[in-house]
Amino acid sequence: MHKSKILITCPKGIAPFLKQELLALGFPVLSESVAGVETEGAFEDTLSLNLHVRTGHRVLFQLKEFSANSVDELYRELYALAWEEYVPEDGYLCVTSSVDTPGIKDPRFASLRCKDAIVDRIREQRGRRPDSGPARDRSVVHLYGKEGLCKVYLDTSGEPLSRRGYRKMPLTAPMQETLAAAVVLATNWNGSGNFLNPMCGGGTLAIEAALIGLNRAPGLFRSNFGFMHIKGFNELLWQELREKAKKEAKKSLSGRIIATDNNPAAVEAAQKNATTAGVEHLIEFSVCDFSDSPLPDGGGVVVLNPPYGERMGEIQQLEATYKGIGDYFKQKCGGYTGYVFTGNPSLAKKVSLKPKQSFPLFNSGIECRLLEYELYEGSKKIKKT
Ligand SMILES: C[S@@+](CC[C@H](N)C(=O)[O-])C[C@H]1O[C@@H](n2cnc3c(N)ncnc32)[C@H](O)[C@@H]1O
Repeated sequence: MHKSKILITCPKGIAPFLKQELLALGFPVLSESVAGVETEGAFEDTLSLNLHVRTGHRVLFQLKEFSANSVDELYRELYALAWEEYVPEDGYLCVTSSVDTPGIKDPRFASLRCKDAIVDRIREQRGRRPDSGPARDRSVVHLYGKEGLCKVYLDTSGEPLSRRGYRKMPLTAPMQETLAAAVVLATNWNGSGNFLNPMCGGGTLAIEAALIGLNRAPGLFRSNFGFMHIKGFNELLWQELREKAKKEAKKSLSGRIIATDNNPAAVEAAQKNATTAGVEHLIEFSVCDFSDSPLPDGGGVVVLNPPYGERMGEIQQLEATYKGIGDYFKQKCGGYTGYVFTGNPSLAKKVSLKPKQSFPLFNSGIECRLLEYELYEGSKKIKKT
């Protein structure tokens, strides 16, 4: 297949981390927007992007860019594409869309006509048409439209990449895997210092940290991607890429990863998830209050994702928790860099330390902040003496 633009989507706030990932993987960055980064390459490149990218959600291979100011025009432009070369006539097709353009009032109708154009074209060329529906586990096409400009893509991920496949035991308020990876990348932790994660919940941060520290490709967990359901999928290349990624992963880490929570069910879930991810031997789990988490010498990062609370009673209780985090940082965490990820700015103030940096990141549509605190050794020494 020809070289084309490739758009990798991500939640708001994550694009700067995604951009760094793409550059590190050797891909050019053509543009960056709030919810995605555009690169370019051949269709085969989408295999390695799906395998290696940690912070992106969907890898979209662009087939065509055109203007359309009515649904009929949209249908004609889409019908003109050689869909029979991409989508198997005996397969299954799902069309997703994000259309907000004058002349096409109803985005659902745009999606429907896009699907019609594809299946009509395939039936005309091959004598039969693929089934279609909402499941994203086989061939997926994405239609984008804004201000009269439309773009149509093969969604080479299918199910979003945030679904790595290791989280079998989600708890309430888990962080998406892609967001957790962005948080770990923001801390610059690379496996050498210690990574402490009190309030670990289902363990997503600790597991993503282990994967990053080991340089283990996140796509190795999944056995199904959209690109596998596009004609001409190069199975041999996919197996080669997987083998290479496995060889490039480290076996052990020099730093320790410690994950704790005061809820035994959370620690149990985190342990099970880590087992599924194959990193349970690298994470030390225990049930305890965050302030009693072990703090090994040698420094590193301590990352907390406390509850943000919604009801008033909860908020009052959480004020004490956030104040406690500030005390814990000041009294026990000297020599570490502290991070708090929260969606509640007024609770964050209760930490009563001045953040050195603040990263805006969205968690399921809620604007959150990752706050970074430099914690000096001095306070630890004072405490000790
Ligand atoms: C928002 S969840 C963390 C979610 C986690 N990042 C994930 O991806 O699954 C907050 C966690 O903090 C824990 N927690 C609340 N207060 C705590 C305390 N005082 N000490 C330890 N853990 C606490 C809760 O049990 C819960 O699992």
